[in-house]
Amino acid sequence: MTSYAINMQGVTRRFGDTCAVDDLSLSVAVGEVFGFLGHNGAGKTTSVRLLNGVLMADSGDIRVLGLDPQTEGPQLRSRTGVLTETPSLDERLTATDNLTIYADLYGVPVQQVKQRVSTMLETFGLSDRAHEKVGGYSKGMKQRLALARAFLHEPELIFLDEPTSGLDPVATQEVHEMIRHVSQDEGRTVFLCTHNLVEAQRLCNRVAVMEHGRLAAMGTPKELAREIGTNVTYRLEIGLEQRQAALDILKRIPSLMDVQSDDEALMFTSTDREMIPDLLTQLVSTDVRVYALTPQATSLEDIYLALHARKGHRQ
Ligand SMILES: Nc1ncnc2c1ncn2[C@@H]1O[C@H](COP(=O)(O)OP(=O)(O)OP(=O)(O)O)[C@@H](O)[C@H]1O
Ligand SMILES: [Mg+2]
Repeated sequence: MTSYAINMQGVTRRFGDTCAVDDLSLSVAVGEVFGFLGHNGAGKTTSVRLLNGVLMADSGDIRVLGLDPQTEGPQLRSRTGVLTETPSLDERLTATDNLTIYADLYGVPVQQVKQRVSTMLETFGLSDRAHEKVGGYSKGMKQRLALARAFLHEPELIFLDEPTSGLDPVATQEVHEMIRHVSQDEGRTVFLCTHNLVEAQRLCNRVAVMEHGRLAAMGTPKELAREIGTNVTYRLEIGLEQRQAALDILKRIPSLMDVQSDDEALMFTSTDREMIPDLLTQLVSTDVRVYALTPQATSLEDIYLALHARKGHRQ
């Protein structure tokens, strides 16, 4: 039986006339890195706040690590870490002091606090500046400190609301490595809100796409590609002297689009994989030498944009 880190059933939360989260049901398995995507105002941050018991739902049921965040918040928060969208740090204190206060608050055993704080500062590249006041930190340094704080008490489940926003490419890469490490090596569950689709593709086992508080799609990137029927790009390697004959065949197949060629191969896109046997038959019967026909992986960005186009533009 799958054990769930997160289970939401029919959860709704309104702010006045705005339905920020609208009858949302989803579950996240223990150990998963789950990507939560969607346009600005789609309801991602509101969902994270509901899951953390910071906001109350109007209706529906929420279980996080088997607990109800609305009534068992304190127990839950000792087992979860959260990087909020706009993390509040005490700017008058040093990074070390900020983390030490949190370590105490989250029940890190006293004899371990010093070591844990120093390890997290090291991991997030802040050791050199650990004794400076956080008010003087750059945006990216503050973000790294907030991340260090989210991981500090070794939580089973970590909520990250846009963790790499404002980070430079190297720091972004380091955060990705950290997420990989805590999920793959340590078996922790990660709930990741992001607008960065490359990040989601790299890190997430499954993703959900939110639209106006509702689930527009959920699954592995492969499942979503199949469901949405996105174009797949194929690369066809042939004997180059037969390029023109092959191009003529490709152009006669109605479901093929965007036929292009470079020095080594022909490329085209199609949503219809049933054309492949016909295409190969035609190529071979025209004596075109086929060395390879390779589908290129559909990116999450392609899927997201196809989904967006299918649903029509947001208001
Ligand atoms: N405290 C609040 N008071 C009033 N409206 C709110 C509040 N919090 C969220 N909303 C509204 O709920 C909707 C969902 O907002 P939310 O912050 O969850 O979106 P999001 O998906 O995190 O967007 P972004 O990608 O911009 O961070 C928006 O219309 C927002 O204005
Ligand atoms: Mg948000």
